[in-house]
Amino acid sequence: MFGTRRWTLLAALLTLVSVILASCGAPADTGTTGNTGTTGSPAASTAAATNASPSAAASTAATTSASPSAAAGTTAGSAAAGAGKLEIFSWWTNGGEADGLNAMFEVYKQQNPGVDIVNATVAGGAGTNAKAVLQTRLAGGQPPDSWQVHAGRETLSYVDNLEPLTQFFKEQGFDKVMPQLLLDQLQINGEIYTVPVNIHRSNMLWYNPKVFQDNNLQPPKTMEEFFTAADALKAKNITPLAVGGKDGFEAAHLFESVLLATLGPEDYTKLWTGDATAWADPRVAQAIETMSRMLSYANEDRSAIGWSDAAQRVLDGKAGMTIMGDWAEGYFLSKGAKVNTDFGYAAAPGTDGVFMWLSDSFGLAKGAPHAEAARAWLAVAGSKEGQDAFNPKKGSIPARTDADKSLYDEYLQWSMEQFASNTLAPSATHGAATTNAFQQTWSNSLEVFSSNLDVEELIATLEDAIGDLSQ
Ligand code: GAL
Repeated sequence: MFGTRRWTLLAALLTLVSVILASCGAPADTGTTGNTGTTGSPAASTAAATNASPSAAASTAATTSASPSAAAGTTAGSAAAGAGKLEIFSWWTNGGEADGLNAMFEVYKQQNPGVDIVNATVAGGAGTNAKAVLQTRLAGGQPPDSWQVHAGRETLSYVDNLEPLTQFFKEQGFDKVMPQLLLDQLQINGEIYTVPVNIHRSNMLWYNPKVFQDNNLQPPKTMEEFFTAADALKAKNITPLAVGGKDGFEAAHLFESVLLATLGPEDYTKLWTGDATAWADPRVAQAIETMSRMLSYANEDRSAIGWSDAAQRVLDGKAGMTIMGDWAEGYFLSKGAKVNTDFGYAAAPGTDGVFMWLSDSFGLAKGAPHAEAARAWLAVAGSKEGQDAFNPKKGSIPARTDADKSLYDEYLQWSMEQFASNTLAPSATHGAATTNAFQQTWSNSLEVFSSNLDVEELIATLEDAIGDLSQ
């Protein structure tokens, strides 16, 4: 009797001690809300933790495909992770973004059942809010284990905070299964710092097939066709083009497609080399005029709605078209909509044959609190299983070339073909061609332009920002 009570007391004491220890080791304020769609601010902070089910643990520990180092093995990895956490930082809170992320978490949890995932998300498309929160954390020496970063020049903005992953990349065999373009873009100062999980297309037009059919319209291939269709829709009191602004990147997003249409892929790409003469091309001013004309066919409440609200207006038939990256397809799918029935797609006007690409990737923080669990995460993010779980929901194609195509819908299968056969051009708004410092000015100045339509001011601001392309 007495023995039992003593053991109970001892167990209670041990539980108390472990709770105290766990809370000491917990990551400090993550400055986020998990998947709630709430705008994150450094002040608002609760990270949503997802617990792996203990029962899954025993059965899957042996099957994990974590990296050799992580995995000396995953059994060990899992054991060490028994008390472990993994904090993943992103801005994926919306529709297919959250669905895709959760699907990849499921794969991770099966392979690493002892690890609690802290889903540190900060709402706001294109990471406009998340990047500010992340910067504060990095400056304060409290990095999340792994965070979302665009492959390409944006990674430059984080090289001091990331562990090189060149060796890990090779060990995992990722260099054998990713397209050369991506492998080249991942090279920063001779090292690879992140693992890409997907490829998105920026220059996409989404339209409402019923609205188009009712009005005898075809998706516009050229700018001229765009304005003809826009006039027809306006005459019927349907917003021709839904444009957001609340997330702070939507106008810039639209403008990169207009620049691409006006300059063509070669001269468009020169804009991001830091060469000021490229910006002096009179077609840059012409593109701004075209953008201004397009906005005259858009909803006036641009700054009050986000990219997904604009997509929803197309789905509802309140607007005919929107120009947005193919995370819009992830959004449509998350609403149960079907491609070609509830929404249609085409290259943004004037850009057919060019695939303006961007890629989401994840890195490993220098001094990551849970480095081993984070390496196992990167192994999942780069794996076929992880990518085939994530991308069909996210609206992106896998970064790997060996995906199971049957898991992807008609749009994504088309997108895979386009990526393989089109001319490629990098997205500026989503970090393939630009640093964070440049993106900030770029997105802000286009949002300002979206309301004041001041051509001269926009050109002057952008010319001033060219120096930021290299920092
Ligand atoms: C992009 C990101 C995409 C998508 C989009 C909207 O920057 O690469 O994955 O999340 O923002 O939030």
